[in-house]
Amino acid sequence: MIVDDLTLTPKALADAERWTAHNYHPLPVVVAEAEGAWVTDVDGRRYLDCLAGYSALNFGHRHPTLIAAAHAQLDRLTLTSRAFVHDQFAAFCKGLAELCHADLVLPMNTGAEAVETAIKVSRAWGYRVKGVPAGRAHIIVADGNFHGRTTTIVSFSTDPDARDDFGPYTPGFTVVPYGDLAAMAAAITDDTVAVLIEPIQGEAGVLVPPPGYLAGLRTLCTERNVLFVADEIQSGLGRTGTTFAVDHEGVRPDLYLLGKALGGGIVPVSAVAGRADVLGVLRPGEHGSTFGGNPLACAVATEVVALLATGEFQRRSATLGARLHAGLNALIGNGVIAVRGRGLWAGVDIDPALMTGRRACELLLEQGILAKDTHGSTIRLAPPLTVTEDEIDFALGRLAAILSSP
Ligand SMILES: Cc1ncc(COP(=O)(O)O)c(C=O)c1O
Repeated sequence: MIVDDLTLTPKALADAERWTAHNYHPLPVVVAEAEGAWVTDVDGRRYLDCLAGYSALNFGHRHPTLIAAAHAQLDRLTLTSRAFVHDQFAAFCKGLAELCHADLVLPMNTGAEAVETAIKVSRAWGYRVKGVPAGRAHIIVADGNFHGRTTTIVSFSTDPDARDDFGPYTPGFTVVPYGDLAAMAAAITDDTVAVLIEPIQGEAGVLVPPPGYLAGLRTLCTERNVLFVADEIQSGLGRTGTTFAVDHEGVRPDLYLLGKALGGGIVPVSAVAGRADVLGVLRPGEHGSTFGGNPLACAVATEVVALLATGEFQRRSATLGARLHAGLNALIGNGVIAVRGRGLWAGVDIDPALMTGRRACELLLEQGILAKDTHGSTIRLAPPLTVTEDEIDFALGRLAAILSSP
């Protein structure tokens, strides 16, 4: 094992194991510093980060513009609560609304909070605008979904690890197969207020729905007076080669759920963006968060939105993603069974006869690559969008090497 050769790593790993609840099973690396696409561990070893904080680090570690914005804001004002308005708030909300072609923005902190916000807004819209009878609002989600880990969200998870032993569960959700428009149409009732969907399912293994699915969902939701809620927390903000994954089918959802990269890898920032007739249903006191939309978060996220407005990161993701996918596809038959994804985002199914996804990630770690497994034999690759061609080639070379001599 890699940890045997090192000095500080084993103790740091043991201390972390001793003092925390075991709700994660991290790879045996202890990161101390990072810059761009590279991290350095406590023993000075460097790794190419091909997970990028599950896409929270789309702009790389410590992007200079974002770090400068954070430093400047730290020296001025960090928190007011929403009891008062601060001078960073409007610029962030306006910038994000424009990026989403939306009227209004509601900032929160974590992705799960954005999802919870959308559930509440959709239900309130159902009762106050659509006219659903009290207590009957109903939301449709997809099999294999991952929208976070609050008690309501795990209530409609189909992953036993996320759900089992955490009941009683919140009612009001129906699960249908992902990518199946007919099943979605059949599940909609007069009480349905929203369809909540990941345009690409990340945790499920980077599953891309069949062509036309998202556009078909848009049409269906419009025809049946149901809100289309797109969870772009992992798929959005440049990851797939466009600003949002729904852009690949020219779709505009009623609500965009954003998080992860919105905080530039510095602060937790999430948001719901949407039309005034939907987000506008909320009244003072009905929803909020002490830290949601705080000055530090807004200062950083405003710069994130400005970086995305240049289009540079979306272009990089598309171009470099094509290189990544070409290289991965060339490994099919050589230890890889299938490759899915878009832009700089890939789910790679390793031949289970060769090794598990976990084992592949451990071997990649020894080769200087950080990646994460999911569902047995799949590994996920999502390097920062600042990654270079040479770095992509390095990652591909290392993957080929561990598969050829496991
Ligand atoms: C699609 C999606 N939605 C929601 C979440 C939850 O975000 P958070 O972990 O910030 O609560 C995640 C996290 O991985 C996600 O991938």
